[in-house]
Parts: sequence; C-alpha cells; structure tokens
Amino acid sequence: MSTTLPPLILIGCGKMGGAMLAGWLELGLPAETVVVEPSAAAVSAFAGRIRHVTSIAAIPTGFAPAAIILATKPQEAPNALPALAHLSGPRTVFLSIMAGRSIASMNVMLGGDARIIRAMPNTPAAIRLGFTVAFPGHGVTEVQRELCDRLLSAIGEAAWVDQESLIDPVTAVSGGGPAYVFLLAELMEQAAISQGLPPELARRMARATVGGSDALLSASTDDAAMLRRNVTSPSGTTERALAVLMRKEAWPALMEEAIEAATARSRELAG
Ligand SMILES: NC(=O)c1ccc[n+]([C@@H]2O[C@H](COP(=O)([O-])OP(=O)(O)OC[C@H]3O[C@@H](n4cnc5c(N)ncnc54)[C@H](OP(=O)(O)O)[C@@H]3O)[C@@H](O)[C@H]2O)c1
Repeated sequence: MSTTLPPLILIGCGKMGGAMLAGWLELGLPAETVVVEPSAAAVSAFAGRIRHVTSIAAIPTGFAPAAIILATKPQEAPNALPALAHLSGPRTVFLSIMAGRSIASMNVMLGGDARIIRAMPNTPAAIRLGFTVAFPGHGVTEVQRELCDRLLSAIGEAAWVDQESLIDPVTAVSGGGPAYVFLLAELMEQAAISQGLPPELARRMARATVGGSDALLSASTDDAAMLRRNVTSPSGTTERALAVLMRKEAWPALMEEAIEAATARSRELAG
C-alpha cells in the first residue's frame, strides 16, 4: 500500500492505541513509525510494519515525526511527557487521547509551548466505528489539524469543538457511552431471565436486540425518538414499559445525573 501518512510516534499501544494503529496501517503508514510500548505482546500483531521500542528513551535520536500520539493512561502522563519534551516544537503536533488531561497540564509537562490537540475517542474505534471529538490547542496549524483529522477519521467519525471545556461532557457522553449501551444489554438479559426465559436465550435476545437496534439507527435517517415511536403502539406492551422507563425520576433523570457525574470526574482528572 502506498504511504499516505507522515512518520509518527505512538506512545502506548493498548486497546485504543492499537485500534488507532490498525486504522493508520490501512491508510498507509511509513515503516519508520515508532511505537513506544512496554509490552511486546501488545504490538505483536504489527510486527514488521512499525518500529517497536519499549521505552521513550529508545526512540531513535534525530527522529522528527509530524505527530506524536499520546495513548497511555492519563496517570502515566507525568512519567511519559517530560521524557518527550525534547521532541516538542512548532513542527510536531501532540495528539492526546488521554481522558481528562488538560492541554495546560500537558504543556507544563512537555516544557511549554507545545502544539497539542486533545481528543476523546471511544472503543467502537476497534472496528472503525468510533466517534472522536477533538479540540486544537494554541499554535496548532491548519495542516496539523488536518493531519489529526485524518488520523482520527481512520477509526470512525471525527468532529471538532472550539472550547476545550466541552471535551469533559464529550468524555461523559461518547467516550464512556459504549459502557452505558453494554449495561443496557446486561440489564435486559437479567430482566429476561427474571421473566423465566432460559439464560442462553436471554443473552442472545439482549445482544441481538441492542446490536440490531444500533444497526437500524445507523441505517435510518429518522431520529432516535421516531424509531422509538415506531415500536410503540398505542396502549400496547412497549408503551407500558416506556411509561416506567421515561418517568421523570427514571431514565431521563438518571441519564442526566450519570452524564453530570462523568463530566465532573473528567474535570477532576484535568491534573
Ligand atoms: N478505553 C476507552 O474506552 C477509552 C476511550 C477514550 C479514551 N481513552 C484513553 O485512551 C488512553 C489509553 O486507554 P486504553 O484503554 O487503550 O488503555 P490501555 O489498554 O491500558 O493502554 C495503555 C498502554 O500504554 C502502555 N504504557 C504504559 N506506560 C507507557 C509509557 N511510559 N510509554 C509507552 N506506553 C506505555 C501500557 O502498557 P502496560 O499495560 O504494559 O503498562 C498499555 O499497553 C487512556 O488515556 C484513556 O483515557 C480510552
């Protein structure tokens, strides 16, 4: 495949970093791209297509990437970022997917005046169905923003906001969102078992119903409320269930409270 991306450094090749790397290899990633990852097992699927090193200190001297992608856990930032300060400069953009970590805090760790884009992806990125929202920090050029947009679009859809503070609710809604949908599948399975259905059938029903509804939503131009109404016959069974779920103090209030709690936690992690 032809090389269509410039050389990069990926810091952390875990669940999200690995998903992104798989997408970039599809786009055409130069083999001199460096992946810094302590675990050899985490990069085994990419052997021969990237340069793997186990620590930041082992990044080849003089290597000047267009972008450095920060995909370690946020707690690792105080160790990793100061070690990358020597690579910071106007020609290198840092693309961080670390939850909570603010641009200001990363800038301090990178020695000041780094070009940083903060982004929040989600786990459907593993099958190229992710949704990532990004914010460009001070000094990021249009070319750097376009490069990061291509990197993020390789794992699904990408969108941009013009205030960094909006990344906190984004983290709460789309970053953690897949967990809420998986919880829905878990709870439907449990409720089906409570109503006497065999556990294996309950599991299949819950998975297929959540997965099928997601596919229908993706394929349809109707909004979610319309698709919901399409299932709801007047005085029927679904209407009875929705009357419980949509009580003011039930799902509407709980969802507000949950998103508010996750947004607050994202702010706490700003560090
Ligand atoms: N998972 C999600 O749903 C999600 C969604 C949005 C954003 N994020 C963000 O994505 C980031 C990565 O999350 P993840 O779920 O992919 O975590 P993960 O699977 O634990 O991946 C992190 C990887 O970084 C490696 N690592 C640790 N220290 C390192 C260092 N100094 N240099 C290079 N690599 C290092 C870890 O290796 P070891 O395991 O050997 O320590 C691990 O393989 C986090 O900041 C998270 O906030 C995650």
